[in-house]
Amino acid sequence: MNPRKIKEGIHWMGAIDWDRRLFDSLIPLPDGTTYNAYLVEGSEKTVLLDSVDPVMTSRLMTQLEDVSRIDYVISHHAEQDHSGAIPVVLGKYTNAKVICTPKAKGILVDLLHIPDDRFMTVEDGETLSLGGKTLRFIHTPWVHWPETMVTYLEKDKVLFSCDFFGSHIAGTDLYATDKARVYEAAKRYFAEIMMPFRNVIEKNLAKLKPLDIEMIAPSHGPIYAEPAFIMDAYADWITGPLKNTVVIPYVSMHESTRQMVCYFVAALVERGVNAELFDLAATDIGKLAMALVDAATIVIGTPTVLAGPHPNVAYAAFLANAIRPRAKFLSIIGSYSWGGKTVDALAGMIPNLKVEVLTPVLLKGLPLQEDLKALDKLADTVAARHKEAGLA
Ligand code: FEO
Repeated sequence: MNPRKIKEGIHWMGAIDWDRRLFDSLIPLPDGTTYNAYLVEGSEKTVLLDSVDPVMTSRLMTQLEDVSRIDYVISHHAEQDHSGAIPVVLGKYTNAKVICTPKAKGILVDLLHIPDDRFMTVEDGETLSLGGKTLRFIHTPWVHWPETMVTYLEKDKVLFSCDFFGSHIAGTDLYATDKARVYEAAKRYFAEIMMPFRNVIEKNLAKLKPLDIEMIAPSHGPIYAEPAFIMDAYADWITGPLKNTVVIPYVSMHESTRQMVCYFVAALVERGVNAELFDLAATDIGKLAMALVDAATIVIGTPTVLAGPHPNVAYAAFLANAIRPRAKFLSIIGSYSWGGKTVDALAGMIPNLKVEVLTPVLLKGLPLQEDLKALDKLADTVAARHKEAGLA
């Protein structure tokens, strides 16, 4: 892909990674991704904003073939999918300096062994004139690492946000025109890596609010020509109302837990509560993360394996604990054959979740009539709690 003009003196560069299916060897990428770099040329200085994943370095360098001079490379975020090609860029432009936050400098030295004398660190709010174009650097920590910042291009009113507001979509559409698709991908992205830091991100959103932003150019996915679309979505995911929904990640080995889950879902629906099921034997963990952004309740369904929860359930509990959803209520349902400490083990895996634990329903083998009554009671409690919280 050749460089693509966004505005006078501003070009998209980077790479479309159509085939990548996993990020961090963990996060599913059903739609691939892009690594967006941007070239901004003033009358005196030229700046490259971020680079690309190391595997795509040659594509960026091809785009830079006709660019004779780069004075600065801005590294908004030290993670290698944006910084990985910087050493090669610095090898071509031997006078270029890397601009980043003081914290990012240390991380970039560790990760990429960039020499100390190639850096120029910037404080929050500092500006840099390129001649006819002025960059303003705004520290926005924890989107999603501690060293992150964004750059606001004054006059042109473009915000270069790196991971902030990004979405994993491989595509040739430079702008977010298919809003439904971009909304889902951005929400998934927020759930997977931003949600644990939402309190700090809320402050970063407030910090950006006074800026007159005409365009947000992230480093993954399409550019937002209507910034309010994604900024309002972030505000909603962070502080918007929770949904009258129970997310149920579950595993069943011999159908007992599945019978319980199915009965419980029907009981919830009868009481006006929605449910989203995720069979952990086959689910896309990103979809589960997305559902956790605004569900009011989580009910984990698990059989007992070797006296504890099924390993897939333990994995999902570990991830949920890491991404810290806003859910207010949690319970556990499931079946065992001969015993175990499933509830205690699972409870110990989710200390970060600030939830009220509703009485679990654990039973031996296939559910009996009295077990179904216990599930009805749990559904009653969930419906009542949701009503009290104003969700129903
Ligand atoms: Fe897209 Fe945190 O890197």
